[in-house]
Amino acid sequence: MPGRNFLFVPGPTNVPDRVLRAMHVAMEDHRSSSFPSLIKPLFDNLKKIFKTQSGRCFIFPGSGTGGWEAALTNTLSPGDKVLSARFGQFSHLWTDMAQRLGLDVQVLDAEWGEAAPVERIAEALAADAQHRIRAVLIVHNETATGVKSDTAGVRRALDDARHPALLFVDGVSAIGAIDFRMDEWKVDCAVTGSQKALMLPPGLGIVCAGPRALAAGEQAKLKRVFFNFQDQIPQNDLGYFPYTPAVPMLYGLRESLAMLLEEGLENVFARHHRLAEGVRAAVKAWGLELCARSPKTYSDTVSAIMVPPDVKGQDVIDIAYRRYNLSLGAGLAKVSGKLFRIGHMGDLNELMLLGALGGAEMAMRDAGVAVVAGSGVAAAEECWRQAAASPQPVAMGAHAKA
Ligand SMILES: Cc1ncc(COP(=O)(O)O)c(C=O)c1O
Repeated sequence: MPGRNFLFVPGPTNVPDRVLRAMHVAMEDHRSSSFPSLIKPLFDNLKKIFKTQSGRCFIFPGSGTGGWEAALTNTLSPGDKVLSARFGQFSHLWTDMAQRLGLDVQVLDAEWGEAAPVERIAEALAADAQHRIRAVLIVHNETATGVKSDTAGVRRALDDARHPALLFVDGVSAIGAIDFRMDEWKVDCAVTGSQKALMLPPGLGIVCAGPRALAAGEQAKLKRVFFNFQDQIPQNDLGYFPYTPAVPMLYGLRESLAMLLEEGLENVFARHHRLAEGVRAAVKAWGLELCARSPKTYSDTVSAIMVPPDVKGQDVIDIAYRRYNLSLGAGLAKVSGKLFRIGHMGDLNELMLLGALGGAEMAMRDAGVAVVAGSGVAAAEECWRQAAASPQPVAMGAHAKA
């Protein structure tokens, strides 16, 4: 099909031309004396993205899943108790990994569409007088349902209970797109991947570990080899890696971090919020519901849109792809067929999103969803025109369906 594929899955996201060009390099010796001049600033700039001064970042060839494994295996021992909130496919998979690694996982289940249950986490922590829980696992932005959790609230729950458990956060579809504060929220380990807000191809798992997580590593007995922080640290300090890094990805990372810092993180967050508000205005105009139950948990990086019960979400996605060259995200596991997702994360602007909304509208009508032609596009346009005319950011949830 001529023209570009409209890639609106919630990762991989669009890779900006600037990043593509930066990655188009001849291979080089990753042990040369000039290599550290590429690597050392990456760690410094990544710390700005995680909003940390005391944390240490690790860049692994891999993906977000590898980042989860690095976080758990570098800090915990077999049989250690962890508390995990499960409210979507990614929080399910991280919970499952913790169980398969031999951890004793206390699972707090919530309905898919709800956020991590902060009150029940607080209760579980308060009930744990012996402080057996060693870590709390939270997915900050559940990509499967388009739900953002209150990670700052989980930190407050830990503090209120005076509980020493480590706080581990999956920021895979959040960090670099929506507010995340490693130091302020006293997050001990945070994970992301290259193919989301960092606007890179898939291929890197990035972890930031705070001082308590690094110290926990001294006692941690889970087996780790490829992801061992202790193998990385002495090499990273010199600007190298203990094994062959994904060199073009590192050039891409240098460029994508530069782009995020040039735009300014707060502006990046505001742009994501503004774009998400337009998508939510479209969903409302279509007369459809988001999977996310409450406006305060609406994700600014992905919207999961419920289709009517007589329509298969997969049909909308297939038609969008085959007829209109638009890639939408599928419903995963429990919500398979019940929804489709629009990723609005990374290198994106209003007009690109209008294309996706228009394509989704056409595909929905083709699949038998009774939406009025042009209704979602018009609502998003008006939302963004208003935002452009006003110096104030559009209020959180202003176009949200209660
Ligand atoms: C929130 C979240 N966590 C973890 C993952 C897993 O990351 P990866 O597919 O890069 O291993 C994803 C992937 O989409 C995700 O959205």
